[in-house]
Amino acid sequence: MPVTDRAFLFGDGIYEVVFGRDGRFAFWELHMQRLARSAAEVELKVPLDSGQWLAVAERLWADAGCETGSLYLEVSRGVAPREHSFPERAEPTVVAFVKELKVATEGDGEAALAVLLPDQRWLRCDIKSVNLLPNVLARQAAKRQGGREAILVRDGLLTEGAATNLFLVRQGELWTHPLDQHILPGVTRHVVLEEARRLGIPIRLEAYPADELALVDEVFVTGTTSHVLAIGEILGHWRRSGPDPITARLRQAYLGRLEAETMGAPHSAQSAG
Ligand code: PDD
Repeated sequence: MPVTDRAFLFGDGIYEVVFGRDGRFAFWELHMQRLARSAAEVELKVPLDSGQWLAVAERLWADAGCETGSLYLEVSRGVAPREHSFPERAEPTVVAFVKELKVATEGDGEAALAVLLPDQRWLRCDIKSVNLLPNVLARQAAKRQGGREAILVRDGLLTEGAATNLFLVRQGELWTHPLDQHILPGVTRHVVLEEARRLGIPIRLEAYPADELALVDEVFVTGTTSHVLAIGEILGHWRRSGPDPITARLRQAYLGRLEAETMGAPHSAQSAG
């Protein structure tokens, strides 16, 4: 990629990460819809349609020869002399690659340690932009303290993780931040909420106050590469004191959906048949 690509110079691009297994991609249409939305919000033209992306994805997957993994897709505004405003003639650059991913799909796994940090991101976190420097710094700060994820706080309210959405359970109710400009509309979050509704778990789409963490019974984060990850401790702020039945149920339900999404023949073979 030329150094004058706008993704390199300005972070002027958008992306998606999709979970795949044996050449099948989970929640494909939801990812395609979000990619289209991110592109529209930053006035970027995506040169491939869903079917063309899928053809690229399947070819990359076959070449990589991995069982489970993630598919990364990025579109930048293209190569042009460095000037902040949009270039007149640049063609979008498209990047795609596959990364092998080992995921535990059974049992509850180890509950992870998280670290509370200020949310220093911009006010369009709903756009899946490659501008991830605050996320990178937060994840690194968490890692330095032995944490797996950073949980971000803006104006006293918990928003989301550095690369995950956040859920909390308090007295049987499932809390998560409502969809607005402060969080990414996570595909995993969407599916987990569908499962919670199906299971009759009461939902509160409200930002949770950081200073009420002591009243929380369970915490988990969700994302394409972390699935439903139980949090056992938020360093210096909260520690799980008992079992986490709601997290366990939703994790199970989500993994079931993931399994169903990635079973059988590849998408293109199915649609062709
Ligand atoms: N991150 N919030 C943020 C800030 C994210 O970057 C992500 C995903 C999520 C979860 O979204 P989803 O369930 O659609 O993966 C929430 C991806 C995986 C990444 O940057 O690698």
